[in-house]
Amino acid sequence: MDQYRLTVNNRTVSVPAWDGTMPLLYALRNELHLTATKFGCGLGQCGACTVLIDGQPTRSCLISLSNAVGKRITTNEGLGTPSAPHPVQAAFIAEQAAQCGYCTNGMVMTSVALLMSHPHATREQAQDALSGNLCRCGSHERVLKAVARVANKRGT
Ligand code: FES
Repeated sequence: MDQYRLTVNNRTVSVPAWDGTMPLLYALRNELHLTATKFGCGLGQCGACTVLIDGQPTRSCLISLSNAVGKRITTNEGLGTPSAPHPVQAAFIAEQAAQCGYCTNGMVMTSVALLMSHPHATREQAQDALSGNLCRCGSHERVLKAVARVANKRGT
């Protein structure tokens, strides 16, 4: 079995795998127990598995373990803590921007990436950025409110 050295949430970790084509998602959830990252479709279509790779929102079901080596990977656990949440995590809590919560990881990670590149993101920019993150419960409006909460706070 080979070892793959990853940088996850500012820590260097070693992940054992028989095959470097294994999706990063499996390594995060099954080897590193970072279960905020969700398995939805496994096909790059739902966004539940989104992580940041070198600051870019990336579907961890589509990137292989070997391709993740040497990149800076951030999961939801790396953003904040329950006692000191990231501003976007705090905004999602304040706006109750989840129903079943399965899509929430991807919504948060995509929103964080958007607000890094567009600190005062408009509603239209948020809608566009989040258009690939699916939610079957209909939490979109509250997600947009959470993004606006952060963008507007930065604007004052
Ligand atoms: Fe990766 Fe759906 S699980 S996009």
